[in-house]
Amino acid sequence: MISTVYAITLVGIGLVMAVFYFVIINSKKTEADYQSITKKWYGVRSKWFIFLLALGIIVTFASLNPFPIPDQHKEYSSNDYQTVAVNGHQWYWTMTPATVKSGQPVEFQVSAADVNHGFGIYDENLVLIAQTQAMPGYTNKLIHTFDKPGKFKILCLEYCGLAHHVMITELIVE
Ligand code: CUA
Repeated sequence: MISTVYAITLVGIGLVMAVFYFVIINSKKTEADYQSITKKWYGVRSKWFIFLLALGIIVTFASLNPFPIPDQHKEYSSNDYQTVAVNGHQWYWTMTPATVKSGQPVEFQVSAADVNHGFGIYDENLVLIAQTQAMPGYTNKLIHTFDKPGKFKILCLEYCGLAHHVMITELIVE
């Protein structure tokens, strides 16, 4: 009887030792595996980071548009540009000259005599093609090249008082 208990105890101790041994062996093996996995995926992670960085830079530059407003301080060459002086008044436009040529860029020098107006150029279908603010004390440069002749409408784009809606004039492009 005692020898049976002794045998069971020994076998039990042996089994527990075997389990411990198994766990120890496998834990070391797992640690080694884990290290190799870590090393491998850290490499992937840094490549992924470089890929995302490059993608970000490429997408940023590929989606850049030229700044839509011309350089306000640049002196545009009088040989290459036609110049039109525009002044907004309550409630009419003065525009000198009121006729320009197509195919050559026009520099509109836009200002206002009294309050803020909005200088908007519309084509024959009343589609807005270019615009800038007309402000007292400032001259805003707006550059536009008309690609074909036609009659264009100038409308005021900013509410400037009672007769704002009658601030309409015509620009002829030859
Ligand atoms: Cu000028 Cu509205």
